[in-house]
Amino acid sequence: MFSRTAHLYDAIYAFKDYAAEAATVRELVQERVHGARTLVDVACGTGKHLAELRAWYEVEGADVDPALLAIARGRLPGVPLHEGDMVELDLGREFDVVTCLFSSIGYVVTRERLAAACAALARHVAPGGLLVVEPWLTPDVFVPHHVGAVFVDEPELKVARVNSIGELTDPLVAEMHYLVGTPAGVEHLVERHELGMFTREEYVGAVAAAGLEAEWLEGGPMGRGLLVGRRGA
Ligand SMILES: C[S@@+](CC[C@H](N)C(=O)[O-])C[C@H]1O[C@@H](n2cnc3c(N)ncnc32)[C@H](O)[C@@H]1O
Repeated sequence: MFSRTAHLYDAIYAFKDYAAEAATVRELVQERVHGARTLVDVACGTGKHLAELRAWYEVEGADVDPALLAIARGRLPGVPLHEGDMVELDLGREFDVVTCLFSSIGYVVTRERLAAACAALARHVAPGGLLVVEPWLTPDVFVPHHVGAVFVDEPELKVARVNSIGELTDPLVAEMHYLVGTPAGVEHLVERHELGMFTREEYVGAVAAAGLEAEWLEGGPMGRGLLVGRRGA
């Protein structure tokens, strides 16, 4: 999904307050887990949450995209970062906290893969630990016929990323059009994103079926809610 635009990722998402989001995760953890020490961020992308979370936890990360992981490696020297699909992730150990943020879970696309991903994430949660998943948009809050745009205006990098979404479909297919200007010229790239439109009940059900005590919290970093799963001690 992001392979051809990995070098633009941090500029496109410069509007996100990763420090505040990491602080929210830490608060959630402090309320629910006693003495959490280790954390893995699955679908960590370029590692911007990890860059904050490592102030409080021993951290690791995982992502399916090698180009995003390469950026994360530059940002996080010494932090173990694993390439792999969350649907079948097996890092061979457990963590006090497992996170999967910024709607990455939607990219599993199907309900079968959602169930498998939640099972894999849950297998990495230590006894007494916590899973924190920031879901993708649920069908009830989806707004059809939405035109979205993000603009980057740096001295040597201009980007317009525009997308137009029609009716609700499942999966939702979003074509992201990038117009990218650098001193080397102007390029037009198109990227296709497919996201599963799971309901709250399906998210909560998948985490519960994975053996965790599941809870849906309103709000969350992007207003899309937060899915929390607790493992018994
Ligand atoms: C919207 S980005 C979020 C990245 C990062 N968590 C952040 O907050 O910036 C979605 C991420 O999910 C990753 N991803 C998508 N499908 C995945 C899968 N099956 N397994 C692991 N990572 C996946 C992508 O490579 C990308 O890094």
